[in-house]
Amino acid sequence: MNAISSDLRTQAGAAVKINNVSKTYETRGKDDVHALDKVDIDIAPGSFVAVVGPSGCGKSTLLSLMAGLIPLSTGEILIDGQAIRKPHPKVGVVFQTDLMLYWRNVIDNVLLPVEIKHQDRARYKETAAALLEQVGLKGFENKMPSELSGGMRQRVAICRALIQEPGLLLMDEPFGALDALTREQMIMDLQAMWGRVRNTVLFITHGIDEAVFLADRVLVMSPRPGRIDLDLTIDLPRPRQWTGIHENKGFQHYVRQIRETFEAKGVLVEH
Ligand SMILES: Nc1ncnc2c1ncn2[C@@H]1O[C@H](COP(=O)(O)OP(=O)(O)O)[C@@H](O)[C@H]1O
Ligand SMILES: [Mg+2]
Repeated sequence: MNAISSDLRTQAGAAVKINNVSKTYETRGKDDVHALDKVDIDIAPGSFVAVVGPSGCGKSTLLSLMAGLIPLSTGEILIDGQAIRKPHPKVGVVFQTDLMLYWRNVIDNVLLPVEIKHQDRARYKETAAALLEQVGLKGFENKMPSELSGGMRQRVAICRALIQEPGLLLMDEPFGALDALTREQMIMDLQAMWGRVRNTVLFITHGIDEAVFLADRVLVMSPRPGRIDLDLTIDLPRPRQWTGIHENKGFQHYVRQIRETFEAKGVLVEH
């Protein structure tokens, strides 16, 4: 393990408290959309929490609230005890689309948050290179986004989210737009990356298997207005092996519990 990785490992995960959070979008002329209803979640520092739920149940709304991108209707969100009202320096975000700036090369995309905050680029350049190396992109620092595959671009987006060592990493369906094989590789790589960094992660997905594989805890959301229907602790030893996980009895048991929760809400219907 090189010096940079062990540096990254020392970063502390943030504690997150979501207290009685509701969100209603006020739409002009049309009915208001009640997206989230009285959500309470307490996340321990350094834990990996996955959120699964049907399309439109309010997952991205929850993430945008935690990222400080949109205002709350009721309740509060605390990150290390601090109420979130705007984007917080301790929080990194990865979206489904990589949002690369196509006119900037890879390393300049990773360094973007540093520049936006007018911080010292030189100080972070080595960290950026180390992060890229950890996700298998050594030698790609000067390539343009158009020269990379979708999976590689998403790796760059993850490095960009990690550059300032966020205590909390928010990921909104980060592998949703990738082909199936690339997605499997990214799942394995994310586990390895998090094993080193050990920050707090909130990972949104509609993939039940990736949620159970990656997380310490899976929260299952109901259809809109989103609530937490099931809070499941995943007690499987780490590191977990993706190959063969679907045959693991413990894994199957968790997947079944989540599926049954969806079936009870009519989200999954057997014919
Ligand atoms: N800016 C907005 N204005 C009005 N309605 C919105 C807005 N953003 C999301 N919604 C609605 O809120 C609900 C939850 O959306 P979202 O959080 O994106 O769900 P998910 O990520 O689970 O698919 C949906 O019905 C969606 O149409
Ligand atoms: Mg969404």
